[in-house]
Amino acid sequence: MNGIVFSLVAITAVAYAQTPSKNDERYFDQRVAPILIKRCLGCHNQELNDGGISFLDRETLLKGGSRGPAVVPGQPEISVLIHAVRHDGEFKMPPGAKLPSRDVVTLTEWVKRGAPWGTKLRIANK
Ligand code: HEC
Repeated sequence: MNGIVFSLVAITAVAYAQTPSKNDERYFDQRVAPILIKRCLGCHNQELNDGGISFLDRETLLKGGSRGPAVVPGQPEISVLIHAVRHDGEFKMPPGAKLPSRDVVTLTEWVKRGAPWGTKLRIANK
């Protein structure tokens, strides 16, 4: 009996985790998208596609470039993007000045939350 109750809780938790909540969408649109638009989108867009990633398309981030997945949802520590903005290895993004640390914190929190997407960054015809 206990086992059944336990699995129901587990299934509910998984279903919940996969449904993007309004809060997550808002977090992306209000906190994350402005950073990406201002600091990354100029190079990482559908036309230039630098490094094989575009910030108009979440899927290209999950796939990543030559260094592996740029974003691993829930796991900032193995996400190339997070190491890049922390400047903690050889590969640094954006090129030039490092992001303010509060932006690095925001991006890390976003990946930790599963890298939810919102409505602000979209390919026009998708
Ligand atoms: C001035 C242009 C420019 C800007 C601005 C820029 N990037 Fe890049 N990015 C590049 C180029 C060029 C590459 C490919 C470099 C390489 O492979 O060595 C790249 C590659 C990447 C990669 C893929 C690494 C791989 O090869 O797997 C990630 C992740 C990344 N950038 C994240 C970011 C983030 C996050 C921002 C904003 C905070 C940003 N970039 C801003 C030019 C830019």
